[in-house]
Amino acid sequence: MATNPIPQFPPGFLWGVSTSAHQIEGAADKRTPSVWDAFTAEPGRVRDGSTAAVACDHYHRHREDVALLAGLGVDAYRFSVSWPRVDSPGGLDFYDRLVDDLCAAGVRPVPTLFHWDLPARLDWLDRDTAARFAAYVSVVADRLGDRVSRWITLNEPAEHTLLGHALGVHAPGRRLLFDALPAAHHQLLAHGLAVRALRAAGAADIGIANSHGPTWPASDEAADREAAEFYDVLLNRLFADPLLLGRYPDGVGELMPGTAERVASDLEVIAEPVDWYGVNYYAPARVGAPQEAATDAGGVHLPSGLPFSLRPVEGRPLTDSGWPVVPEGLTELLTGLSDHYGDRLPPVIVTENGCSYEGLDDQHRIAYLDGHIRALHRAMEAGVDVRGYFVWSLLDNFEWAEGYTRRFGLVHVDFADPARLTRTPKASYGWFRDVLRAQRA
Ligand code: BGC
Repeated sequence: MATNPIPQFPPGFLWGVSTSAHQIEGAADKRTPSVWDAFTAEPGRVRDGSTAAVACDHYHRHREDVALLAGLGVDAYRFSVSWPRVDSPGGLDFYDRLVDDLCAAGVRPVPTLFHWDLPARLDWLDRDTAARFAAYVSVVADRLGDRVSRWITLNEPAEHTLLGHALGVHAPGRRLLFDALPAAHHQLLAHGLAVRALRAAGAADIGIANSHGPTWPASDEAADREAAEFYDVLLNRLFADPLLLGRYPDGVGELMPGTAERVASDLEVIAEPVDWYGVNYYAPARVGAPQEAATDAGGVHLPSGLPFSLRPVEGRPLTDSGWPVVPEGLTELLTGLSDHYGDRLPPVIVTENGCSYEGLDDQHRIAYLDGHIRALHRAMEAGVDVRGYFVWSLLDNFEWAEGYTRRFGLVHVDFADPARLTRTPKASYGWFRDVLRAQRA
């Protein structure tokens, strides 16, 4: 473990932790069904056959979790609002209480309005879902906007499109490959309409959380470089270009639903300026030319027939998820975004960064976070305007298709004892608390 103190960040830098509704709340009987309920009910979809019906039971135990946040000393807490819960009578009362408790504890609430748990009756392949999202966002903003000043529209539309609609390893479990692109366009449209709805409700501090990572070609061969460029467009530019530049990367706009005129007018909505840009970073990807056989990378099974293949990043330690630990990838990513988008890139907040490891004495997690926070500081020294950093995650939780087999929390949750679900802060919780104290000393 590193012993040098973490460098000092500027005053006002926002330190936080993140979670999402479906992964922690439980209380599935107090909300309408989401696409994840249908997906997890199908045998073989989730590694340990589990569901998020109870998860961390945060719905009933949120007071304890707010006390953990206060003990950690974070400035802010990023959680998500469950649209299926808001759809059920009294559903917003829960977030009302949560926000009150956070404010009373001196922790700033930063809600994400969509973190993958779409109501089961809806579908991102339908254009209408975008307008419905904006209507739901207005309802939430009217209720919470007197206490919430910072909002996040969507979480990682790239992963939701790729894993949920193209590859079928997440809900809703579709394997549409490139025919999944309308789901991307409609999420982007939903984002733009939500920005407008939030502004109409008086909100002034709005962002989105997009997943990003450096893409490294497997070799210098032209075929590998081309494949890596293609992957880079899919992961890093398909969502950021329309948001920040008002256009799709070359060759992609034609694949979006509707006429060219309609896509062009949608892009005006999509590019509605945001106040800051959220970046979720876990690891870089090493990408090569297509391979005959299907490949597995970081737990994702890629079918053959794609114009790229994922290769292992060699010579790096791996987390329990099989993801390589590459802190300097965060410096590379942030300086790369700043070079690519220039003045069009608003201030950045790292809205997720973290790793899965077993154990309460989680020195590997401490080393991971330590390395990434320093890498973030180096990006700031190089001139990137970064305003905040959120660890994924406060609690061990329902890690989507991995069920409860991957632990990302600073706090351990005893899923083996569902009646208690005892929370135990890990070594990393104490370490992060001390980092935050030192920042304020
Ligand atoms: C998602 C989280 C997830 C984390 C670790 C991110 O892509 O936003 O919901 O738990 O990665 O896989």
